[in-house]
Amino acid sequence: MASTADLILAIDQGTSSTKALLVSADGSVVRSASAPLGAAHPRPGWVEQDALEVWESVRLAVGSCLSSDDAPRIVAVGLTNQRESLVLWDRATGEPLGPVLGWQDRRTAERCAMLVAAGAGELVAEVSGLPLDPMFSALKAQWLLDEYDPDRRRSEAGELCLGTIDSWLLSRFGGEHVTEIGNASRTQLLDARRGVWDPRLLALFGVPSAVLGTVVASDGPFPAVRGLDPLPDGVPVLAVLGDSHAALFAHAGWRPGVVKATYGTGSSVMAALSGPAGSAAGLCLTVAWQLGGAAPTLALEGNIRSSGRTLTWLAELLGVGVDELLSTAGPSSEGVALVPAFGGLGAPWWDASAVATVSGLTLGSGRPALARAAIESVALQVEDVVAAVESVGGPVGTLLADGGLSRSTAVMQAQADVSGREVRRADEADLSALGAAQLAGVGAGFWTVDQLAERPRETELFLPTLTADDRRAARTAWRAAVARARGKTV
Ligand code: G3P
Repeated sequence: MASTADLILAIDQGTSSTKALLVSADGSVVRSASAPLGAAHPRPGWVEQDALEVWESVRLAVGSCLSSDDAPRIVAVGLTNQRESLVLWDRATGEPLGPVLGWQDRRTAERCAMLVAAGAGELVAEVSGLPLDPMFSALKAQWLLDEYDPDRRRSEAGELCLGTIDSWLLSRFGGEHVTEIGNASRTQLLDARRGVWDPRLLALFGVPSAVLGTVVASDGPFPAVRGLDPLPDGVPVLAVLGDSHAALFAHAGWRPGVVKATYGTGSSVMAALSGPAGSAAGLCLTVAWQLGGAAPTLALEGNIRSSGRTLTWLAELLGVGVDELLSTAGPSSEGVALVPAFGGLGAPWWDASAVATVSGLTLGSGRPALARAAIESVALQVEDVVAAVESVGGPVGTLLADGGLSRSTAVMQAQADVSGREVRRADEADLSALGAAQLAGVGAGFWTVDQLAERPRETELFLPTLTADDRRAARTAWRAAVARARGKTV
């Protein structure tokens, strides 16, 4: 039983920053801090981070979140992280070999296209639940090994470790090479239904099993914390979840019918499945989490590559801040459509050859119409995925929203309008960190999963205001714009 003085520390290691959150036994956020994290783009389409900087950003975020009074009160740590990004390191020294290949990195696009042309996509989708796309880790694994262990000698000898960010951070804590099952399911090397590394996928991508970590359930066992001053060494890590999975957990996403959208740089629409299912309609099949020795909970997910990034891109182009861009949006896009296929389109199209387009411009098109088109591009892409989830899992009446961009009322209202569904916004934007804290709190005896379901995080409701005809027209125009971006006719 938790005492009222006990605290949980959540760490959210994201693409552009690491956040640390202190959560009390009544579930409220006591304090938070963050540390920025940079990325390098040495060539077009390449996205790299420094694994030691990732670790340092965790240390900095924790260090600035905790006072020396808090540190002894922390009874558990929950970790959530950016997914698919991959690190290679030396098992003996713990030193990384080469950069972290970020999830947005597209250096393997050509190799990916060759595998698609060779017909490998079917096996990959069937076993891993994921479409062949450079976003996932398997081709990044192959690239890193080709670069640093071309003959795989060191890999086979067990001298090297490959892992997603959870695995890398846990190795800094305890030296053990483990990875959480939901993160592992994003590598494209795991059999999603059985929760084990699949030999056919390992052979396809040239990854020896000896370089991969032991797959562990989302509630552990994980190595305890080490080297996170002022936190004492030995505080247990009781939860690890991929960031999108953690947000779904915070929405009590195990309840039937829950569908959530996380609005960030990109967006992720996710819904847990109550039984076994195949991937469908351009969606990924992913392990949401595995808890308490039960079978893994599967989820459908659709990833959208550009959401908040579309707004920052347009704001930069127009020389304004994002808030100003949002506030100058007009009531209508006046026929302008922005398809933000920067680097192709993700779910439900998975079309690497799609190009970003702005269409329908007239001499009267100005900032208000462009800003509105950018907002609508976020909402329409999310709706494309929600409709795909609906086609597999049944009616979706309510969409639960979280993530930094969900703070924008304009985006939330646009979502309700183009979707024709009610949208409920979470009371905390940092829902991933909260989800990791909540799962760690289950392990620490703060609350039960049932008690979490009784405390919904969503407080604000947005209702559709468009007529059905206007909504249909908007969706038809969007489909035509997407077809143009994909070089197809409707
Ligand atoms: O799948 C990529 C995702 O996990 C990254 O999330 O919020 O760090 O951009 P974020």
